[in-house]
Amino acid sequence: MNPIIQVEHFSKKYGDFTAVDDISFSVDEGSIFAFLGPNGAGKTTLIRILADVLRPTRGRILYDGRDIHAAGDAYRTKIGYLPQDVHFYDDFTGRDYLEYSAALKGMEKARAKKRIGELAHSVGLWDDLKRKCTAYSGGMQRRLGIAQALLDDPEILILDEPTSGLDPYERIKFRNIISAYAKDRLVLLSTHIVSDVEHIAAQIMMMEYGDIQHIHTGEEYVHMMEGRVWLAEMSAEQLMTYQNRAVISNVRTKDSRMEVRIIRDTKPVPDAVQAVPTLEDAYLYLFNYLPGKAGR
Ligand SMILES: Nc1ncnc2c1ncn2[C@@H]1O[C@H](COP(=O)(O)OP(=O)(O)O)[C@@H](O)[C@H]1O
Ligand SMILES: [Mg+2]
Repeated sequence: MNPIIQVEHFSKKYGDFTAVDDISFSVDEGSIFAFLGPNGAGKTTLIRILADVLRPTRGRILYDGRDIHAAGDAYRTKIGYLPQDVHFYDDFTGRDYLEYSAALKGMEKARAKKRIGELAHSVGLWDDLKRKCTAYSGGMQRRLGIAQALLDDPEILILDEPTSGLDPYERIKFRNIISAYAKDRLVLLSTHIVSDVEHIAAQIMMMEYGDIQHIHTGEEYVHMMEGRVWLAEMSAEQLMTYQNRAVISNVRTKDSRMEVRIIRDTKPVPDAVQAVPTLEDAYLYLFNYLPGKAGR
């Protein structure tokens, strides 16, 4: 497949502060490409530049070989964009908001009406379209924003933390909608939640401190962790000492002892057994969440 988005040596500074530092990568069509990283990693900065609402300090982004900023409207009409924070006008109902968004996108009225109906059903807001969107819950507002981004059937869907505020059921529904959508489109999405992208993203870019740490498929990350994830039983006292020396990804109480999931290159304690790794283990390992560093 041809790369349709190419990011070349792109950097963004806010004053003297470098939020994203000289990153390059390309994305193929027909896939989900995820930016995964902790808060402050530079995801929103990158997303806003991909949506052409912010200009890079250095470097460029090409869509089908053409600079997105130079392409202007020719690019913007191809994208659907969900910002990290969406603000709603006080007196708008859900339907008003979608109709207004459709008008801004230059959609023809009859088509807009049809799409609004389809999308309101698929994001589960059909019964709430008449209500004021400021009265929606956080999850409902997020779903309304997702519907807005999908309105004009964009070739490229750009979503910044699309699942923030969604409950577990809404998250699953979201993943299903996006997977189906990405069959013949490109979806670029940012998240700090591993399970959002674990099974749906074709490529996952892990970023931190404005830098690309890794770009791999989910399977590649998991494969990388084989032989590095362990389960060991220990007492609460042992755990207290041990947790200062290793990355612990989970603790489960088992009778009077603890079953501890440990991420480590070598066997941590003599009776530890290997566990099947997950993407979350890779995230903790690669971002080196060592004791004292966690909770940044
Ligand atoms: N407008 C701004 N002015 C100054 N610093 C900013 C601005 N926006 C973001 N930053 C800083 O840039 C870094 C990356 O932020 P952001 O792109 O929002 O990361 P993420 O979305 O991964 O949390 C953070 O350290 C943040 O504080
Ligand atoms: Mg962000």
